[in-house]
Amino acid sequence: MRKKVTVIGAGNVGATCAQELARRDYADVVLVDIIPNFPQGKALDMNQAGAVLGYEPTVVGANDYDATDGSDVIVITAGKPRSPGMSRDDLVTTNEAIVASVTKEAVRRSREAVIVVVSNPLDAMCHVAKAVSRFPRNRVVGMAGILDTARFAAFISQELDVSVKDVTAMVLGGHGDQMVPVVSATTVGGVPLSELLSRSRIAKLVERTKFGGGEIVNLLGTSAWYAPGAAAAQMVDAICLDEKRVLPCTAYLEGEYGITGLYMGVPVKLGAGGVEEVVRLKLTPEEKKMLRASAAAVREVVSILKRS
Ligand code: NAI
Ligand code: 2OP
Repeated sequence: MRKKVTVIGAGNVGATCAQELARRDYADVVLVDIIPNFPQGKALDMNQAGAVLGYEPTVVGANDYDATDGSDVIVITAGKPRSPGMSRDDLVTTNEAIVASVTKEAVRRSREAVIVVVSNPLDAMCHVAKAVSRFPRNRVVGMAGILDTARFAAFISQELDVSVKDVTAMVLGGHGDQMVPVVSATTVGGVPLSELLSRSRIAKLVERTKFGGGEIVNLLGTSAWYAPGAAAAQMVDAICLDEKRVLPCTAYLEGEYGITGLYMGVPVKLGAGGVEEVVRLKLTPEEKKMLRASAAAVREVVSILKRS
């Protein structure tokens, strides 16, 4: 039986994610947005692309939630993106209200779904979705680590002039400027990154990764969407197809990595049950310290939420 995936927010990230999923052809996709005619128009366009690319036209656009009934996965991308000079955290108040309202509407019709949160500030918005849905922690997960890791891997591949397919990287922590690129777990063709590049070159790539979102905002005047949309679709694949992928995702921690009661980016096993396991990665003392600092930064944002 085909799966059903609801993507809320038909803007840049939501539409990219929906299109990626439509191309995979294993799920019916419902695209919801508050703007009249907007998701309907995008759905029509995506369905017509199916005739060229060879997938079934099963994308539905809607301004209400009736068509979302019984979704297996709900992807939340509704909200404002960043504009130049704005940090992800500046978005907190506006997006908290939006994420709370769309979560409430969506979960009423899909009690067993897994929620994938994308809206920023990501870690805090995961708290909002969990509090409003009252779903167990395994069924509310955030997308950030795959994107941050993709950026780190792309910078490494450019620096070393090797295929990005042979770079295995890992970025953990909050989706903010204090994210933690885990150099000790980063390899190229199995060779540790630290054997291939000097400390100072690695430090430059780490720094560029931390501000990778802002670099694109400064170029485009709004935030990225191709890599974010693809990353969210990768998480949907892992859940809908029960792939049990080990991916860096934002999960609610209850003691893992010494952190309790907080959403943070960590490696997880992602399958039909959502977050089926938080994978323990051995970190260096310096990386542990960076993870604690990142957790403190996330807690600060969470503390200004009305609900968490
Ligand atoms: P966008 O502005 O292109 O799209 C957002 C869409 O949400 C708009 O079409 C808007 O009409 C819709 N929307 C607003 N309120 C709504 C509501 N109550 N119900 C339904 N739809 C509603 O923005 P974009 O670029 O797609 O970004 C979406 C969010 O994702 C932003 O918060 C952005 O910061 C975040 N983001 C997160 C990333 C991550 O790594 N977690 C990466 C990239 C973006
Ligand atoms: C990004 O990292 C802004 O979170 C968004 O591109």
